[in-house]
Parts: sequence; structure tokens; C-alpha cells
Amino acid sequence: MKKAYVKSYGCQMNAYDAARMADVLGAEGYAPTDSVEEADVVVLNTCHIREKAAEKVYSELGRLRVLKGERKAQGLDTRIVVAGCVAQAEGAEIQARQPAVDVVVGPQSYHRLPDLLARSRERRVVDTEFPIDDKFDHLPRRRTVGASAFLTVQEGCDKFCAFCVVPYTRGAEVSRPVAAVLAEAERLAEGGVREVTLIGQNVNAYHGAGADGAPVGLAELVRAVARIPGIVRIRYTTSHPNDFDDALIQAHAEVPALMPYLHLPVQSGADRILAAMNRKHTGDQYRRLIERVRAVRPDIALSSDFIVGFPGETDADFAETLRLVREIGFESAYSFKYSPRPGTPAAERGDQVPEPVMAARLAELQALLDGQRYAYQRAAAGRVFDVLVEKPGRHPGQVAGKTPHLLAVQFDAAAHHIGTVVPVRITEAGTNSLFGQLISAAAAA
Ligand code: SAH
Ligand code: SF4
Ligand code: F3S
Repeated sequence: MKKAYVKSYGCQMNAYDAARMADVLGAEGYAPTDSVEEADVVVLNTCHIREKAAEKVYSELGRLRVLKGERKAQGLDTRIVVAGCVAQAEGAEIQARQPAVDVVVGPQSYHRLPDLLARSRERRVVDTEFPIDDKFDHLPRRRTVGASAFLTVQEGCDKFCAFCVVPYTRGAEVSRPVAAVLAEAERLAEGGVREVTLIGQNVNAYHGAGADGAPVGLAELVRAVARIPGIVRIRYTTSHPNDFDDALIQAHAEVPALMPYLHLPVQSGADRILAAMNRKHTGDQYRRLIERVRAVRPDIALSSDFIVGFPGETDADFAETLRLVREIGFESAYSFKYSPRPGTPAAERGDQVPEPVMAARLAELQALLDGQRYAYQRAAAGRVFDVLVEKPGRHPGQVAGKTPHLLAVQFDAAAHHIGTVVPVRITEAGTNSLFGQLISAAAAA
């Protein structure tokens, strides 16, 4: 049987696309494999968000070229596919830099992979169109694996933050119709999925067409997904502060399946930098929004993204970011050094922050955020949480799952608990995971 190896970098949208590419190849008779050496098709689903992520692709491709040659010597054919956001941004340049690449395919065209692979036997192929036909209508039925799944509901971005490539690599904001989302969620539930994470670059800008054609917002979509039998947990990511409406806050108050966790990137705490970033909100507006969410869901776990060293960022600006982090308190966060991206306005600025300054700021911010994360983990010790059991644990006899606040927990329990929600008492907080004890149904009652 032919085999396909699909590796994904970057965000959850890419993880979703990678799974769907595996489905497309599966429908063509390729079995998924974790071993690149035995793959007849290798797909790298790439990310362009920071320079490091984009450059990693080329070192990986260098290794694949060698592998392709070795397999060829054994009479085996290997097709190398570059998909995702580097494919979209760089197109044919990729093959100019690495001729071993057979197919370059963008995030909106991968439903055409079988055709592109067939054509690549004649000559190298590039497809970075934003096709008129909706890729979602052409994808095969999803193969479900596990208790938790991502579901893309919205793609693209119209916000053009000054540092960001996403509006260029993913195109304009598009929402899938409600019926399409619900049909996919129903199939996931039938396949054993219990938790659905609705994803989009700006998922709370969702405005998909409802039954009568009128646009429906994310809050209403969440309520509809919550009515699907078998779906017991709903999450969404990534949301933008400016699209956060009262209806979504209300959903957090009223929909039990909507988990108390919110990833809401703020990037900086300094109003001057937020304005230069084109984020179109201030630090205080962000604080007030968090207050309103916490008013209805006091236990909500908060997460965010931060960029240090955006062009022109001073020590005083950076201090404002630290102040915001101290005031709000995050369960988890991602923080990055600013990386100038070709074609974005911020990359053109003359006041780039020197690398050592960025490194020092990043270390200081991450120390603060790590401290908050450990404190959050430690505060969980002794408490009981409902845990969705997702997979076998690290050690035999253990399983692993997540609390409503997205904390990872390991505990002793039989594998048949996978796919169920069980009460677990947290006994110990590690740095990356909690350890707990299953409470028997009788004891929990
Ligand atoms: N749509 C989301 C973010 C998508 S990109 C939002 O608006 O918040 C994910 C994260 O990557 C961003 O939140 C940002 O923190 C980071 N990022 C994006 N472009 C970057 C760049 N040029 N340099 C460093 N970090 C960047
Ligand atoms: Fe990038 Fe800004 Fe769009 Fe997020 S909102 S994807 S950071 S341009
Ligand atoms: Fe990266 Fe593209 Fe996602 S640039 S972060 S994979 S949208």
C-alpha cells in the first residue's frame, strides 16, 4: 500500500488542513505513516508567520532531497509537496531554491492534491490560486481520531496588523455556512469526538450564512453545536478583542458546554505600540473586555500572544506590557520576538529594535508568564476537575486528558475511559502536566 507522511507547522488552522490533506490522500489509497523514510508522498504543511518558521522548511527540504535520492536508488518514487503559508507566500521560488520539490500548493487549493500529484509526474507544479470553488465542498469524509477535534469555521483575515503575513497568505476573511459546520460537527460526534474546537484566524468574526441566508455570529454557532448529541465540550480560537461581542460573553454565561478558557491575543500593553501595530484597541479596552468576561465566568482561564521588540518599542512601552500581564494574570501565553516579514508595513520601518534588546525583553516577559503559569498549575492541586480523557498516558495504566481550563492531567485509569468525562482530584502539579486520581462514580456522587 502507498504511504503518505504529512507534517504540520504553525497554527491550528494548519493542523486542521494537514488532517484534511491526509484525508484527501487517504481517499486516493495512501495510508498515513509517521515514518518519512517509507513515505511515497511527503507533505510539509508550512508556516510563514516568523522568519525562523519559514526558514526551517528549507533545512527540512534539504534532508528530504537526500532521502528522495536514496529511495530512487532503490527504485522507489517519492513526491515532495510543500503546502501551507510558505507555499502561498513564495510559490515557485520554493522550487527555485529546492528543485526536489514536486508540488507547491496553497492553503485554499489542497483539495486538488490528487490532480497536482498526477501532473507532477510530467513537470513541477505550483497551485496557489484562491479558487472560486470552495475546497470544503471537495474534501472527502473526515477520518476521526480521538476525543477532541479542530473544526475550521472561518478563514483568512482582513485586519492587516502591521507585523502580520496572515492576510497575505490566507486571504480575505471567509466564514463557512452554519449548515456545513454543523454537518461536519455531527459527523465528528458520530465518530466519537466529544470536544470540538471551532477555529479561525479571527474566529469571533464568524458570520456564516444561517438557514435563511442571514449571517449568524459565533455565539449562535456555539449554541447550535452545543445541541449536537455527543458534543459535551466546545472551545474556540483564535479570537480578536475587537470582534468580541456581548452575545459571545452571554454564551460563556449560559452554555455549559462552552469551556471556561479564552485565548485572546493582546500583543502589547502599550497604547502607542498597539496603535502602530494597527490593533485598533488600547490596553484599557482590553482590560475592560477581560473584566466583562470575568464578570460572567469568574473562573475563566486566560491565554494570550505577545510580541516584544515591535519597531519603535521603548523600555517604557515594554514596561506597559509587563504591567498588563501582572494586572490580568494569564494561565498560559505565547510570546515572540518581533520578526520582520517581507511585504508587511512594519518590516519597512527604520526603527527596528536591536536583537539583544528583544532577547532581554523576551526573557523578562517569559519569566513573568512562566511564574503565572506555575502558580496557576499549583493552585489546581487538591481540587477536583471534570477531565475529558483523550489518550493513553505516558506510563502503562495511565490515561491523559484535559480539565475545562485546558490543563493537561495524567492519572491511573483503564483505557476504556478514553472519550469520557470523569472527575479527577489533582494530587500534584508538575511544570507541564498535573497528576491526579480518578474519583469513582460513587465517591463523586
Ligand atoms: N489572528 C491572531 C493571531 C495569528 S498569528 C490574532 O490576531 O491575534 C499568531 C501570533 O503570532 C500572533 O498573535 C502574534 O503574536 C505572532 N506573530 C504574528 N506575526 C508576527 C511577527 N511578524 N513576529 C513575531 N510574532 C508574530
Ligand atoms: Fe494577523 Fe492581525 Fe489578522 Fe491576527 S488579526 S491574523 S495578527 S493581521
Ligand atoms: Fe503560520 Fe499560516 Fe497559521 S503563517 S500561523 S500557518 S495561518
